[in-house]
Amino acid sequence: MENTIQTHNGKLEVPDNPIIPFIEGDGIGRDISGPSHQVIDAAVQKAYGSLKKIVWKEVPAGEKAYKELGSYLPDETLEAFKKYLVGIKGPLQTPVGGGIRSLNVALRQTLDLYVCLRPIRWFKGVPSPIRYPSLVDMHIFRENTEDIYAGIEFMTGNEDAKKFLDFLVNEMGSTQIRFPETTSFGIKPVSKEGSVRLIKASIEYAIERGLPSVTLVHKGNIMKFTEGAFKNWGYDLAETEFKDQVFTWRQLEKIQSDKGKLDADKALNQAKKDGKVIIKDVITDAFLQDSLLHPYDHSVIATMNLNGDYISDQLAAMVGGIGISPGANINYQSGYAIFEATHGTAPTIAGTGKANPSSLILSGVMMLEYLGWNEAAEHILDAMEHTFAKRRVTSDLHAMMEGASLVSTTEFTDEIIKNIH
Ligand code: NAI
Repeated sequence: MENTIQTHNGKLEVPDNPIIPFIEGDGIGRDISGPSHQVIDAAVQKAYGSLKKIVWKEVPAGEKAYKELGSYLPDETLEAFKKYLVGIKGPLQTPVGGGIRSLNVALRQTLDLYVCLRPIRWFKGVPSPIRYPSLVDMHIFRENTEDIYAGIEFMTGNEDAKKFLDFLVNEMGSTQIRFPETTSFGIKPVSKEGSVRLIKASIEYAIERGLPSVTLVHKGNIMKFTEGAFKNWGYDLAETEFKDQVFTWRQLEKIQSDKGKLDADKALNQAKKDGKVIIKDVITDAFLQDSLLHPYDHSVIATMNLNGDYISDQLAAMVGGIGISPGANINYQSGYAIFEATHGTAPTIAGTGKANPSSLILSGVMMLEYLGWNEAAEHILDAMEHTFAKRRVTSDLHAMMEGASLVSTTEFTDEIIKNIH
């Protein structure tokens, strides 16, 4: 067990040679997995010499596993992620027709990876549709296990939909169903436990990293008992468990109504001076607009599953798209974490040397930070900044960057490694 990452009193204990299971992935997964490991290895070596080194352990999943073992997601792979706690994966093709709906969903559900974490930052030189992309530095905490995405749906015409309709109308006295004969239903479960564990992780993240604020994004104005409750549970948590470290907009409003605007402004300025994390909330539609117009107003974002899905793609597009956006699925209580490229398998460019490995490399950066190997993570970020600044990029970015030189996946990787050294 000496090379196995463990948790002790809620903290990760990372050996110097941790075994990290990885899924190579389908399609371009095969093109970007090896190169991303090379970059991570180079950064670890640069940071720690021979003192630390990752022991990569491939685990089967996807098409390759199906061909060799007859299963898209063999039990041994799930066992490996449980045993070694921290892993990384390339994109997996969702099997067509019957069977598992999505391998990614299966992994998230089995390990109860309740946080989908997406940091959004811009690298100089990368094309962006907004005027000041350098002002974007956001960290999305998307709830990963609940909400309308829980998969509880009844198709109109089915027996279950009829039963559900009958229950709503006859037992709950519901009169709001406009066209009962043709209505399908979806259920939106949002629990206090599920919301609190997500928001807690986001506040701790902001405190640990000295980030200025956490924005709770919700549609609580319309969905009061689910999204509205998410916001209220968030404020309750912040004001009790983190009362010395945060200042909330709810507290601000109370001061304003009790004592007036001047006192409220003073309290807010004092909280900022004291280095407190400001906890605020914004309605989702307003957030989508505000994050484009004033990205510097938002730092950590805590939100539910569906909102988080939309927000992740919009914010990623602001800094260069999914080809360079990393992600992680984490359970901060058990320590289980799987870092992943956020794009798919891009089958049309698989094997052509066109794939951009940045998303998986940056997921590796997140993994190094999660392990506490921050020096190695910094080396990769610096090297990527240099590489983008030199405008040597893969075809996805090349098409949008004036005066850039086109390089293949391996040439791009070699350039990063050269910049690490
Ligand atoms: P996709 O992300 O594979 O491709 C969308 C577009 O982006 C394509 O034009 C593709 O060429 C391009 N692209 C994506 N990643 C790139 C990269 N690293 N470098 C350069 N260009 C890149 O999405 P699509 O086509 O919807 O899905 C293809 C397959 O991937 C499906 O089977 C889907 O289920 C799966 N998928 C898996 C995900 C995962 O494992 N996390 C996430 C999204 C899709």
